[in-house]
Amino acid sequence: MESRLIRQTFLDFFAKNGHKIVPSAPIVVKNDPTLMFTNAGMNQFKDYFLGNKLIDIPRIADTQKCLRVSGKHNDLEEVGTDGYHHTMFEMLGNWSFGDYFKEEAIAFAWKLLTEAYKLDPSRLYISVFGGDAEEGLSKDLEAVEFWKKWVPEDRILFFGKKDNFWEMGESGPCGPCSEIHVDLRPDEIRNRISGADLVNVGTPEVMEIWNLVFIQYNRKVDGQLEELPAKHIDTGMGFERISMVLQQKTSSYDTDIFSPLIQYIATFSGHPYTASYAPQAKSDLAMRVIADHIRAITFTIADGSIPSNTGSGYVIRRILRRAVRYYYSFLGIKDPFLFRLIPILVDTMGDVFPEIKSQQEFIIKVVHEEEISFLRTLEGGLKKLDQLKVDSGLISGSLAFELYDTYGFPLDLTKLIAAEKNWTIDEAGFKLALDQQKQRSRADAKKEYSDWNFIQDGQCKFIGYDVNEVEQTKLLRWRKLESKGNALYQLVLETTPFYPEGGGQVGDKGLLYFDGQDIEVLDTVKENDLILHIVEILPQHLEAPVRCVINGYRRSQIENNHSATHLMHAALRNILGTHVQQKGSLVNEDYLRFDFSHFQKLSAEEIKNIETLVNEKIRENIALEEKRHLPIEEAKQSGAMMLFGEKYGDYVRMITFDPGFSRELCGGCHVESTGNIGLFKIVSEASVAAGIRRIEAVSSSKAEQYIRDQMDELNQIKTVFNHPPNIIQHIHHLLDENKLLQKQIQDFKEEQSLVLKDQLLARAERISGIQTLFCSIVLTDSKLVKSLIYQLGKELSPAILFFGFVENDKAQLMCYVSEELVKTNQYNASNWLKQVSKHIEGGGGGQAFFATAGGKNVAGIQSAIEAVKDIVIKELKA
Ligand code: SER
Repeated sequence: MESRLIRQTFLDFFAKNGHKIVPSAPIVVKNDPTLMFTNAGMNQFKDYFLGNKLIDIPRIADTQKCLRVSGKHNDLEEVGTDGYHHTMFEMLGNWSFGDYFKEEAIAFAWKLLTEAYKLDPSRLYISVFGGDAEEGLSKDLEAVEFWKKWVPEDRILFFGKKDNFWEMGESGPCGPCSEIHVDLRPDEIRNRISGADLVNVGTPEVMEIWNLVFIQYNRKVDGQLEELPAKHIDTGMGFERISMVLQQKTSSYDTDIFSPLIQYIATFSGHPYTASYAPQAKSDLAMRVIADHIRAITFTIADGSIPSNTGSGYVIRRILRRAVRYYYSFLGIKDPFLFRLIPILVDTMGDVFPEIKSQQEFIIKVVHEEEISFLRTLEGGLKKLDQLKVDSGLISGSLAFELYDTYGFPLDLTKLIAAEKNWTIDEAGFKLALDQQKQRSRADAKKEYSDWNFIQDGQCKFIGYDVNEVEQTKLLRWRKLESKGNALYQLVLETTPFYPEGGGQVGDKGLLYFDGQDIEVLDTVKENDLILHIVEILPQHLEAPVRCVINGYRRSQIENNHSATHLMHAALRNILGTHVQQKGSLVNEDYLRFDFSHFQKLSAEEIKNIETLVNEKIRENIALEEKRHLPIEEAKQSGAMMLFGEKYGDYVRMITFDPGFSRELCGGCHVESTGNIGLFKIVSEASVAAGIRRIEAVSSSKAEQYIRDQMDELNQIKTVFNHPPNIIQHIHHLLDENKLLQKQIQDFKEEQSLVLKDQLLARAERISGIQTLFCSIVLTDSKLVKSLIYQLGKELSPAILFFGFVENDKAQLMCYVSEELVKTNQYNASNWLKQVSKHIEGGGGGQAFFATAGGKNVAGIQSAIEAVKDIVIKELKA
């Protein structure tokens, strides 16, 4: 069965059984501080389980893009060493939100596997939660009863918390689970050793394929389990694993999901792929790692995470570098290569995940540039290692750490190179340095949340599109947040006009009035579906009625910038082309910042055209058309701009300013008509990353201010020049004139020095057969003096010459001694200068044949000359 069909069969099966099929959520998570990447299909439904969101559709199924590279679920190190662990994988899942529970979930899974996929039932084993005394949880005998309907009891096995109690992270929804394992060994071996003994012991041929989680608890931050108000089902089947089983392969890398990638890598590198898992088969390992990693990289970039030095961007950068170093070290590829795999990946997955298809060119560009720059640092690091003299044969921990930290060398790369040179590495020292760095960054980033304290019942609702204040509402829950030693509180209200930061727009600020107590809201953020008001003081009367008012002036400035952003986005696509895609946005009360995919610097002409178009649309005073609850299909059909990496529900909010111009899905706040924006001005345009440009712009009063400041500056300049009729021409004229004068001065100085040279030649005095000159001269440019002293030196040779002069109001001394005199070791220009530079209150030195000194006492030049003359004459006569 082709993998496409395997996926479709799953979705069709659950659709037939009353499930709504939904799209995968983005792989990069927003609005959830407990997660960086989607690590399970259930992440996007977390708030249904916790009761934060009302259940509207009780049965759902999908295929979800997941990434397990950090936190509680991390498979990075396993990738490639076996045939069934991946960083990015697809999880096929079905969910019941307070609808069916264990019995039906078990029946569905069994029927799909044995009837639709026609797996041999005798090869399937079931694991069930065996209880946990410490947590006070009993054996899941209920699940056993339901399984017994389908499976003989000797193939139902109990396991402890580690294997059969599923948790999303340190806190959150969780529950006991039942896993389905499949035994892929040939019959004769199966007859000898029972598969039951091989479940959960790490035998690759006996492998988990599907996990059915019976969600019934919430793990609180304090570690306690609390019963959820309703019971839910969360299942996840590894798509790559079920494909491997159904295609009768022993590794997912041999299925049609990965083989086109592996084949390409093998052909390109010239290393045949032998599907070996032996530790010495490094090139096979490398091919699997690269085939895995390019998927993680492509999907996360498509969902808006660009390689960087922080957060999710840093994780992507590390995965990318890991892949580079595998091809560099084990496949002998020394030039960027990963980017070549993207079209192949798009071929195999682009129909199911259109986000990688439509952004293919952009993703290639980002990956290619990142490879180029890492290969460069890799070479830099290798050079550093090459130049190193490691006498003791031991690379210190701190050097290994520097290579890791500055050059991005993973420790095993340093080890590999060291081994070639017969060096060893102080690994303990490396680990220590790494731990210290981790501790530092953890301390910086650490945020600690308390559990929620529930005050009153209700659902949280945002009404700030229509009003800036709410006369009376109530506090639903609060939580304490500690960050960098500061204590803050997060309050959830029933109705609120406070916009929570999202879609680039900053959160609202304002005031809450609790029974006479005013509390300032510092910021408003979103966490999944909750709106959190951040305050420094916890209200005294938590049950009191609350009045809330946002800072309305600030909000209106924000609205100006947000609507201006939409107009500019449309203008960019109009003027630069429809390849322009939003890659990041910030909208606050001062300005707007917009990142978008585009490959060249914008010309002055393009910037002007964008500004002109936006300002035209402002003057048209187009009224806002807002559709708050539009079926997503209708929105798509009407051509609304949608962003990759955003999670859209069935109903969306659509913002239109002129149906023929700007139409976007957006949850943010906007002006009633574009005239409010007043004026739009771009203040900068630059590159932020490969293939991404950034524009910063201002609107309304800030734009006015910006232009006023520019005008003021211009007026000051005009005043300085006494208001000439054409200032630009005037300045050009002055610059030309200045250039000419400079040239004349230079010519004059050179002429002067020629005249001087003749005079000085005539003044030279011969002492003990050596020509000498000790005098102050009128030149004021040390370069000219130097050239003069060299010329005189040659013509008078053997000679000792000593000049004093003034340059930039400072006293200067310069001394020259012919080479043949220096050779005798008797005469030293530098020594003489050192002895006399006190006269000019300065110092200097140089070499025996040429030395200079500078000092602040111009009046001392003459006495320095006399003094040096005395010394030299004495030495010459001695
Ligand atoms: N949440 C469970 C898992 O990730 C089942 O979907 O395994």
